[in-house]
Amino acid sequence: MSEPTIDVAVWRGAEAGGYQHFTVPLLASQTVLDVVTYIQRHLDPTLAYRFACRVGMCGSCAMEVNGIARWTCRTHVGRVASGGALRLRPLANLPVIRDLAVDMSGFFDKWTRAGGQFRPTRGAGEAFATVPPSTPERSAADAAIECIGCGVCYASCDVVAWRPDYLGPAALNRAWTLVNDVRDGGNDERLRAVAADAGCHACHSHQSCRERCPKQLNPTASIAGLKRATVRAALAGKL
Ligand code: SF4
Ligand code: SF4
Ligand code: FES
Repeated sequence: MSEPTIDVAVWRGAEAGGYQHFTVPLLASQTVLDVVTYIQRHLDPTLAYRFACRVGMCGSCAMEVNGIARWTCRTHVGRVASGGALRLRPLANLPVIRDLAVDMSGFFDKWTRAGGQFRPTRGAGEAFATVPPSTPERSAADAAIECIGCGVCYASCDVVAWRPDYLGPAALNRAWTLVNDVRDGGNDERLRAVAADAGCHACHSHQSCRERCPKQLNPTASIAGLKRATVRAALAGKL
């Protein structure tokens, strides 16, 4: 009896391109990343894709699997194969470098535009500022902090697709983490940045980002927090 296989359609090319089909042996407990790696190692060594940790730590293996952005190393084939087939594309809303690899530089530029860098209030040589784990301040700063910058939410956001200048859920989620960090001193500037056109007020609260985030973060709630904070800042004459 022949071994079971799966048909895998893989995007080849850059923005212009097409799907190439591969037949891959179906194995128990196989992830989508295992399938892509099999193709690259056994069928076509020119296939471009990205991964690093293989255990859901780095976020670099994200791609679109049967129409939904996912971490491929944490996605089992048996859970997502549709009719015994997989269709793999690079993440949406990002320029394609080649095949399944996208250029993340614009995505991270938006973190900078959203004021995503920590602005310390203490200088070198001073004691570290501490926020005890049991305090409400620490809970507020922790709520959105586990983002690993994978881009799944960004690729799932319709507003990013409609207007590419929109800062997007990940950069705004990062800004909200810092707004809540009592050690940070950059909030006036940060709130001005996220209140601008293409900032938090452009979000339509679809919640695709919350539904798709593999870390179960809630960028929609972070953005709602930014909307409230920017209104308060405007009323206080800070914007
Ligand atoms: S918020 Fe979630 S989906 Fe978006 S970049 Fe961070 S970890 Fe990835
Ligand atoms: S809630 Fe806002 S950021 Fe999240 S997917 Fe919808 S429009 Fe994009
Ligand atoms: S390879 Fe690191 S999260 Fe998938």
